[in-house]
Amino acid sequence: MRRPMIAGNWKMNKTPAETVALLTELKKIQIRNKAEVVVCPMTVSLFAAGPILKGSDIRLGAQNVHFEDKGAFTGEANVASLKELGVQYVILGHSERRQYFGETDETVNKKTLKCLEKGLKPIVCVGESLAEKQKGITNEVVCLQTKAALCGVSRMQLEDVVIAYEPIWAIGTGMTATAQDANATIGAIRRAIREVYGDMAEKIRILYGGSMNDKNASELMSQPEIDGGLIGGASLIPEKFEKVINY
Ligand code: 13P
Repeated sequence: MRRPMIAGNWKMNKTPAETVALLTELKKIQIRNKAEVVVCPMTVSLFAAGPILKGSDIRLGAQNVHFEDKGAFTGEANVASLKELGVQYVILGHSERRQYFGETDETVNKKTLKCLEKGLKPIVCVGESLAEKQKGITNEVVCLQTKAALCGVSRMQLEDVVIAYEPIWAIGTGMTATAQDANATIGAIRRAIREVYGDMAEKIRILYGGSMNDKNASELMSQPEIDGGLIGGASLIPEKFEKVINY
């Protein structure tokens, strides 16, 4: 049995003070199912988030990390610092980072390996563009991205990896993949993992992301392959995030 995960990607929203206010509201949510809940504020807001979440059922995640331990990498943050702030998960390879910040399959792989070596759990994002979907190559694209990200990950380490399938055309647009399509694509990702890791593929959690919200969460979560959600806009609104958490 895979434990469901509902993770909020706050993107570039919420200052440290606003983070404290939002987390104070989110901590009041009664988590009525067994979902693991994660929130991923901006890097500069993590310092404020750590103490608020200590002892709560909400785990802390980051949105990016560098693949080197330390050194001359101006503007970056390393794994050791995130861990010191109480971070347990880190989103890697989000399509916005691939599109605007030069993230590649290779850097996602290096970051995945560094996180696993140092004890942070990666949430690796994969997803096809609208043009790729229209060409009918969704499965090829997401399976290649998945295998590239996992290159060199051991069977033991695989259990700590979470994959998030986020069709780029569904992010922030209000257009979700149908529950059936999302389920089928996630099934294809799991089969690609199975080719390399065998039965271990049944243990890895694969989330859906892309305009997932309080209205569509329960239908998406009822699909057998969908193990959770990576939520953008709806994770910033407590009433909506609560409904997603208790889908
Ligand atoms: P939205 O839920 O706002 O579409 O964002 C999805 C996303 O990119 C989560 O990482």
